[in-house]
Amino acid sequence: MPDSLKKKLKLKVSAINNGTVIDHIPSENLFKVISILGLQNVKSQITFGANFESEKLGSKAIIKLSDVFFEDDEINKISLIARNAKLNIIRDYEVVEKRVVEVPDKVIGIVKCFNPKCITNNEEITTHFTVISKNPLDLKCKYCEKITHEDQMVIK
Ligand code: CTP
Ligand code: ZN
Repeated sequence: MPDSLKKKLKLKVSAINNGTVIDHIPSENLFKVISILGLQNVKSQITFGANFESEKLGSKAIIKLSDVFFEDDEINKISLIARNAKLNIIRDYEVVEKRVVEVPDKVIGIVKCFNPKCITNNEEITTHFTVISKNPLDLKCKYCEKITHEDQMVIK
């Protein structure tokens, strides 16, 4: 099969003119990514798909946002649940930049504190963690000082 045809068949979601393509999201976390980035408030075109074949992830999801460009600290919020996500910045139909997401130094909201007695699990208080290890992830709670490890992480 010619490469040009392969590429067309691969393109299950239409190309965009200008904006951001978030690729290589684990399929099961697509809707969490949408919610963490607040994409329900975006007024321009959004297309997304899940359960696409991926060599690296087995199954991946993809989100295409027309005319939306993210600041680093905004996009890094998804690093906790889409570690291998790749950002493609599109201008005039061409990929002009590729970026990876990075785990930030602080995590505010998003994750629940593992400690059931923590005030954030008992009152309406936004969680706040310092990242003390990035791989594997270890988050130290500002309120109870307990560590939430990666394998205990629950996304709010
Ligand atoms: N894309 C798009 N609209 C464009 C150009 C690209 O929606 N005008 C999307 C492609 O569908 C792909 C992503 O942006 O999902 C990255 O495009 P490209 O770099 O051409 O694809 P790959 O080489 O497969 O990317 P990588 O292996 O780096 O993920
Ligand atoms: Zn806590």
